[in-house]
Amino acid sequence: MGILDGKVALVTGAGRGIGREHALMMASEGARVVVNDLGGDAAGGGGDTTPAQETVADIEAMGGEAVVNGGNVAKFDEAGAMVQQAIDTYGDINIVVNNAGILRDRMLFSMSEDDWDAVIGVHLKGTFGPSQHAATYWREKAKAGEDVYGRIINTASPSGIYGNVGQTNYGAAKAGIAAFSIIAAQELVQYGVTVNCLAPTAWSRMTAPLMGGDDAPDDLKEQISPRWIAVITAWLASPEAANVTGRCFDIRGDQLGIAEGWHLGPVATQTDDPGDMGPVVAELMSKARLNASMSGRDHEGHGFPSQSI
Ligand code: NAI
Repeated sequence: MGILDGKVALVTGAGRGIGREHALMMASEGARVVVNDLGGDAAGGGGDTTPAQETVADIEAMGGEAVVNGGNVAKFDEAGAMVQQAIDTYGDINIVVNNAGILRDRMLFSMSEDDWDAVIGVHLKGTFGPSQHAATYWREKAKAGEDVYGRIINTASPSGIYGNVGQTNYGAAKAGIAAFSIIAAQELVQYGVTVNCLAPTAWSRMTAPLMGGDDAPDDLKEQISPRWIAVITAWLASPEAANVTGRCFDIRGDQLGIAEGWHLGPVATQTDDPGDMGPVVAELMSKARLNASMSGRDHEGHGFPSQSI
């Protein structure tokens, strides 16, 4: 018996890295899986279904059921076809894990329109597409009086919710995904569908170059194995997680945290004259919590973001 017995899952970007671990974990817990992966390079160029085929072969080798989907999550109709493939192949769709991703890191002044559009397209629109098609299906099922079992698990990033230099495109997409998750959770709660998001840190093709590449120690790769991201994800997809929604989980190896979202901090009364605002803002800033660094903790060092004026 697995915690996902009888469930049908779509995992995007499941040919490699974190998505592959999601697919393997879900299959090992009894889910049947549509393994989507466009199979391009880390910047989104090209395409090759071999990685997705390998994930499916590994699932089948352990006695599970899975099918390949080679679609592009950034294309709305192809996202719809992924959801439909689950329904046509396995009779339902219960779990959508929006995971596919690319990187085009540049400083803002060097970022091209194409770098912006590609990253926003794969991450933000690529989260909207499968979610929108699944939500439409679940709502129609509910209206027809049928039981609905729905879970959406999206992939944000520490870069999006805390901020990281060189990633205005990626971080904006990821912050958007965190906001999307909160709002979709509010909208779908009436159907019993949960929506949560992940802010992972894991060893993968995407992050290896930032973490020492081939020279990185093996124990680091073990400590932040992408398998850790799949543990909480499989649980969030399970029946026991029915009341967990609108949350963002920060996962670093075996450390699991909840990232607490924007809150209104201290407040003050504005002056009529902008020239008199300095002391008002100074007091507010002295009381306000600092933004987080990439660790998720209050920012320290370099006086940024500044706490005084
Ligand atoms: P990865 O590069 O190993 O895997 C991403 C997969 O997505 C690739 O197999 C790629 O072919 C696929 N993909 C890319 N564009 C696609 C498209 N348009 N349609 C379908 N598939 C597509 O990267 P990794 O690290 O496994 O990343 C997975 C997710 O986790 C991404 O959303 C990433 O932004 C996010 N993430 C990862 C972190 C990490 O530490 N590894 C940190 C924060 C977020």
